[in-house]
Amino acid sequence: PAGRPLAGRRALVTSGPTREPIDPVRYIANHSSGRQGHAIAAALARAGAEVTLVSGPVIQPDPPGVSVVHVGTALEMLAACEAALPADIAVCAAAVADWRPEAAPGSKIKKEDGGEPVLRLVENPDILRTLATRPDDRPALVVGFAAETGDILAYGERKLGRKGCDWILANDVSPETGVFGGGENSVVLLRRGAAPEPWPKLAKEEVAARLVERIVAAFAMGEP
Ligand code: C5P
Repeated sequence: PAGRPLAGRRALVTSGPTREPIDPVRYIANHSSGRQGHAIAAALARAGAEVTLVSGPVIQPDPPGVSVVHVGTALEMLAACEAALPADIAVCAAAVADWRPEAAPGSKIKKEDGGEPVLRLVENPDILRTLATRPDDRPALVVGFAAETGDILAYGERKLGRKGCDWILANDVSPETGVFGGGENSVVLLRRGAAPEPWPKLAKEEVAARLVERIVAAFAMGEP
């Protein structure tokens, strides 16, 4: 139907930061607000898709009409994403921590323990890459973000290849842009085998709406 062009399609969206415990009271995280990912989940649901949003800890309310799975760590986020498959569309907008402390003690690290603690970090799984390279149930369209500070085209194109995804929305998150936590985003849409397409600076809700328009068009053309 015209109003709900993604009816019958399943979509998976990741959003927000992850929190990687150092001990029971401390963690490593980042400044992601979840605004962009939540806006995308809401826009996909408005277009009729059946949406699962896997969200790290954010203050954004759960978008209406979306089933939300709340997670803490990257490992939990990956497990929730895999549990949400199969899906036709995956959009990874979460700012997943690249590393986590190798082991978190069960009790709080105390100054009285003496010395300065040394944190050993191990790499987290790449959720976008994992979804994009699933042998049997890869979503037909996998979209990632590339948040960079400077030279976003070069980094974005490289990321498109490395991650195995179909599209990348590359954006500049240099502190002076105010993108992290802000209401606007300035992105370039990178698609395999197509010229980069810069979008004007838009509210994150409008970036979401435009992305969903492009997704609808791609499915209408039988592209993915
Ligand atoms: O490599 P980088 O973190 O810059 O890639 C960003 C893209 O990859 C985003 O779409 C992000 O959601 C996704 N990502 C992921 N799991 C990770 C790291 C990044 O899904 N561990």
